[in-house]
Amino acid sequence: MKKMYKTLLVGSTLAITAMTLTVTTMTATAETMIKKEGIENHNEAWAPHFPLQYDSWKQTIQSEQIDDMLAKKPQLAVLWAGYGFAKDYNAPRGHFYAVQDNINSLRTGAPVGPISGPMPTACWSCKSPDVPRMMAEVGEMEYFTGKWAKYGDEIVNPIGCADCHDSQTSELALSRPYLKKALEVSGVKLDEITKDDMRSLACAQCHVEYYFKKTEWTDKGGEQKTAAVVTLPWAKGLGAEDMEKYYDEIEFKDWTHQISKAPMLKAQHPGYELYKTGIHARSDVSCADCHMPTKSKDGKTYSDHNLQSPLNDIENICLNCHDQAEEDFRNIVEQKLERKEQLMEIAMDNLAKAHLEAGKAWELGATEAEMADILTDIRHGQWRWDYSIASHGSFFHAPEETLRLLAVSNEIAQRARLKLVKVLAKYGAVDYMAPDFSSKEKAQKLAGVDLATLVAEKQQFKATLLQEWNTQAVKKGNLNLDSRKGMSDKSSYSN
Ligand code: HEC
Ligand code: HEC
Ligand code: HEC
Ligand code: HEC
Repeated sequence: MKKMYKTLLVGSTLAITAMTLTVTTMTATAETMIKKEGIENHNEAWAPHFPLQYDSWKQTIQSEQIDDMLAKKPQLAVLWAGYGFAKDYNAPRGHFYAVQDNINSLRTGAPVGPISGPMPTACWSCKSPDVPRMMAEVGEMEYFTGKWAKYGDEIVNPIGCADCHDSQTSELALSRPYLKKALEVSGVKLDEITKDDMRSLACAQCHVEYYFKKTEWTDKGGEQKTAAVVTLPWAKGLGAEDMEKYYDEIEFKDWTHQISKAPMLKAQHPGYELYKTGIHARSDVSCADCHMPTKSKDGKTYSDHNLQSPLNDIENICLNCHDQAEEDFRNIVEQKLERKEQLMEIAMDNLAKAHLEAGKAWELGATEAEMADILTDIRHGQWRWDYSIASHGSFFHAPEETLRLLAVSNEIAQRARLKLVKVLAKYGAVDYMAPDFSSKEKAQKLAGVDLATLVAEKQQFKATLLQEWNTQAVKKGNLNLDSRKGMSDKSSYSN
């Protein structure tokens, strides 16, 4: 829905229908050719055609503050022990920083050449319009084959125009094949997608849950290769329980927990899926309605491309549809958020303690048979917690579903802990108390993270290979260094 008006928000179906009608006439289309063939990955190349959209997109450079979530919520390092997220995890920043954050994250490590480092190429997938460009150039399977460092001098422009727009028609278009496949698997017919649908589906290219599916394939020269293909687990539905069933059936795990040995799932950011369960989605309010309000300059209207929290602009966004004083409205939203915080903290504490108690049980000699059921509980409990909060803004997008998942997560974690009391008692540790994890330092120590070494290696990488990548990217014509003017270089370990 492009736009609604206060007077229409009386809650009746009649009003909603009326709103839909107003919308179509207001939908701006542009149809300008940016490039004759292929994908225009340089965001600045779009600027002369669409200066208003470009300038507002560029403002995402202002959202540069680092919010170190491991410092804010130290339980996280315990919950993710043995997995990259225990090393480094920040709240999201502006789209302009997507490539920089991927490079700076301790999760991507410190490669020394194109075939080293912990991560696969798939890690670039939601960061840049160079991704669809590479897929077109080398083929989808080749794109998904090899290490992250393979594309250091190719994937250099941050999320921009060609991620969401077609370079020939400039219309909104899906640039990511994995979303198209997932939509089809979940029963959506691609040729029935409307312009209105695209106002949310453009975002669903990245703000969704996915996993890396190991896929064997043979290249043109006959060489056997293994790709890690971004895949959305939507075949059984988009809900947390549907996806859990999907993962359980194929016995998929993202990693084995370092302390509890549980076969874990990591939710990425099922933002679109969770949003779909909320009242706004049900009322046909799209992502763009709230995150891309219509603005005007010099008599021209345009969609604001400075994607940020709509709470920064309640007046221009929410009060289009809601009839309340801005201050009252802000208070309502803040109070809602506090309720989630409380439930979330309880669930996280119980899950972290379950991991540590399970670790103790193993240490004392517990058997696989005694632990199997407990580890499944931990897997399922943590999955629900992660699914419900991993997508930022989830609680606002779908309050009831988020609270339901947190409550069930907590219940499953408590069930695991009750079972653990029995096992611990059997091995003489009836009074065992999980160690303190109340700071990032303490929690990372429990998770076996050697932060100082990781940071030193990363700095070395940034001083050497990263410099080479940038030089090569400029030489190859992939990167225009001017496009990075004004960009800061912040991370959780250096400001
Ligand atoms: C994250 C996805 C996304 C990115 C990135 C993006 N756009 Fe858009 N763009 C949209 C959406 C959604 C609309 C609203 C379309 C509609 O309602 O018809 C839109 C609308 C437009 C329009 C139509 C007129 C208007 O303002 O509504 C133009 C032109 C445009 N974008 C240009 C650009 C340019 C130039 C860039 C790069 C600087 C860019 N877009 C980056 C999603 C995106
Ligand atoms: C190509 C992938 C991609 C697409 C498409 C995309 N996003 Fe994002 N988005 C990201 C990533 C990655 C981040 C985190 C960037 C970072 O922290 O460096 C992000 C961050 C954000 C943020 C946080 C910004 C801030 O300053 O805190 C918002 C809000 C957001 N996206 C909304 C949207 C909406 C709405 C759409 C659709 C119109 C959309 N995104 C489309 C990948 C994408
Ligand atoms: C009804 C308005 C509304 C709709 C529709 C909506 N959002 Fe949001 N979104 C918000 C608000 C409000 C927040 C901030 C909530 C908070 O601070 O917890 C937010 C937060 C976010 C954030 C985190 C921003 C940050 O800085 O942490 C992302 C990412 C995001 N939304 C993406 C999306 C995507 C993708 C969609 C569509 C699938 C969507 N939103 C639909 C209102 C909306
Ligand atoms: C395009 C119109 C539109 C926009 C923009 C919009 N809303 Fe809504 N909102 C609705 C509709 C429709 C409902 C459902 C009302 C009903 O059924 O009674 C709703 C319901 C709500 C509710 C009650 C349900 C719940 O989720 O708790 C809150 C709170 C709310 N909106 C807050 C916001 C905030 C904050 C923003 C801005 C970030 C916003 N809305 C933007 C149309 C909109």
